Amino acid sequence: MKNHLFFIGYMGSGKTSVARALSEKLDLPLLDMDEAISKRFDMPINKIFETFGEERFRDAETELLDEISKLDSPLIVSCGGGVPMRPENRALLKENGKTILLNATIEEIIRRLNCDSHSNENARPLLNNEIDESHIKAMIEKRKAVYEETADFSISTDGLAPEEIALNIIELMHF
Ligand code: S3P
Repeated sequence: MKNHLFFIGYMGSGKTSVARALSEKLDLPLLDMDEAISKRFDMPINKIFETFGEERFRDAETELLDEISKLDSPLIVSCGGGVPMRPENRALLKENGKTILLNATIEEIIRRLNCDSHSNENARPLLNNEIDESHIKAMIEKRKAVYEETADFSISTDGLAPEEIALNIIELMHF
């Protein structure tokens, strides 16, 4: 059994910043899946969707997760929001470490996505560059049960800074 730590959660739940804070506190290397895939294709995520389609992006996620699972030394991994939706990805998460679900209220998610959308690099193809509350609510509802079933731990991030959340995780997981 590998000892990676995987962060899952909806877009805007804070995975990347919390994973970074925890990697600094535990002195473990960080791998951001979106960033790694974007590097491989040498283009931002929204361009990958546009050029090759969503399925190709989803295949790239599964390929990368499979590679991560073969690495022996532990990593902190920030997963893209869609990663737990494929059954083979869920199996890889379960077999290769512990998975932490970051929860946030819809209001907080929308606030964070609004902040991010000012930067084109962070454009989220599934949102079509639009922060539509009912669309986001429907997506969260659709994914909620799968996220919860995949996670070994869940943690609320509302109103907390990434460093505070990282400290809560350290306490929760008895590091
Ligand atoms: C996606 C989330 C994004 C990125 C892609 C698809 C999703 O990552 O992988 O736009 O399906 O929820 P973040 O959750 O890091 O924003």
